[in-house]
Amino acid sequence: MPHVVFVAPRFLENTNRYVRAFAGLDGVTLSVVSEDPEEAVPEGLRGRVAAHYRVDNVLDGAQLAVAARAIAGAVGRVDRLTGALEQLQMPMAVARDALSIEGMGAHTARAFRDKDRMKEVLRAHDVPVARSALVRSVDELEAFVGRVGLPIIVKPQAGLGSRATHRVESRDDLNALVRAGLAPTAQRPLQAEEFVRAREHTCETVTVRGTPVWRSGTRYFPTPLEVLETPWVQYCVLLPREDDDPTWTRFAPVNGAALAALFGADARTAAGTALTHMEWFLRDDGSMLVNEVGARPPGVHIMPMMSLAHETDMIADWAGLIAFDRFTPKARRWAAGAAFFRGQGAGDRVASVTGVEEAVAAAGAALVEMRTPKVGMPRAEGYEGEGWAIVKHATTDGAKHALRALIERVQVRYG
Ligand SMILES: Nc1ncnc2c1ncn2[C@@H]1O[C@H](COP(=O)(O)OP(=O)(O)OP(=O)(O)O)[C@@H](O)[C@H]1O
Ligand SMILES: [Mg+2]
Repeated sequence: MPHVVFVAPRFLENTNRYVRAFAGLDGVTLSVVSEDPEEAVPEGLRGRVAAHYRVDNVLDGAQLAVAARAIAGAVGRVDRLTGALEQLQMPMAVARDALSIEGMGAHTARAFRDKDRMKEVLRAHDVPVARSALVRSVDELEAFVGRVGLPIIVKPQAGLGSRATHRVESRDDLNALVRAGLAPTAQRPLQAEEFVRAREHTCETVTVRGTPVWRSGTRYFPTPLEVLETPWVQYCVLLPREDDDPTWTRFAPVNGAALAALFGADARTAAGTALTHMEWFLRDDGSMLVNEVGARPPGVHIMPMMSLAHETDMIADWAGLIAFDRFTPKARRWAAGAAFFRGQGAGDRVASVTGVEEAVAAAGAALVEMRTPKVGMPRAEGYEGEGWAIVKHATTDGAKHALRALIERVQVRYG
């Protein structure tokens, strides 16, 4: 009976879905590490949790190692140490190394987490990526611009949510970056990349011991960067009905090569049993570039969208994959989409939300779930905005139509 230790920062809605999924697996011993106290383990799950260990900071690998050691002492050997969040991937790997827990160690995790290292590894395996460099000074940044020209993108080495990601179009932008105190230094290097003008897609892949066994994919409308750069734009993610759409099937070999490169020598171990989330660019000339890969379930509502489109529970499927190294490929039955509602105008709170009834009527039966922004909510930082809706339709066009119906009608104003 595998003993799975799940790392949940806090027992919030989304995390609880994952805890419940592991708790729902027959033949699994489940333990949990969290920053929340044991009393916060959701009602009904407490009896199912063999051991709970509280840490001050789940992002500290040393604390996770202490927790895993204590749990192993109380319950028995830890077979899997897992968690769904991007920020947990590195500390969990450090803890696995410390306790010789099967799964991804720090060396492999770094290839997924460090944007510079990721591109180096991919390039070394002939996987197409944008030209990039980790720059440690303004001189190095200038030298990079000298090599690839403008525009470029600069972003943090271990970025997340497109935070601190900037497009540099001109010398003026470059100077402005330096003036804003964002110049790269030895202590705070920056990932500089050639700016890729392209459509942005994702590829979600299930691998079992390094072998891809199933794929799904989405498209972002527009790209996350464009959403952040354009205050009035609302963001959508579309999962098409056709699982044989050539846009995605053509990418499959690139995806396979990229994952093989990143899993490296660990591919055939438990480290290679994963649901990965890859973001990739498709240029007008048909060329494809890998942008980045997370060795964890995708965000931006792609998990519920995959569940709807394939009539399954992807979170339960992922839990089973991690615990038992098993996955049954799913057939696509629907198209799905997510719309993100973002405020417009000045101000730091949501002042009004209009058009909801019309939007719901226009989306019709395609609308599955909706979380409308509430007046008074603080302005959200990222491209996901203050609310969202999820749709499902028998056709890709139907799902697209429903997304458009929603984002054209729901109007969120800041004030
Ligand atoms: N080289 C590039 N060329 C063009 N656009 C880029 C490039 N790199 C990043 N972007 C844009 O910036 C966004 C964020 O970049 P990236 O995905 O690398 O960082 P991140 O912070 O991990 O993002 P997230 O967590 O939002 O996926 C991308 O989705 C894309 O829109
Ligand atoms: Mg990204």
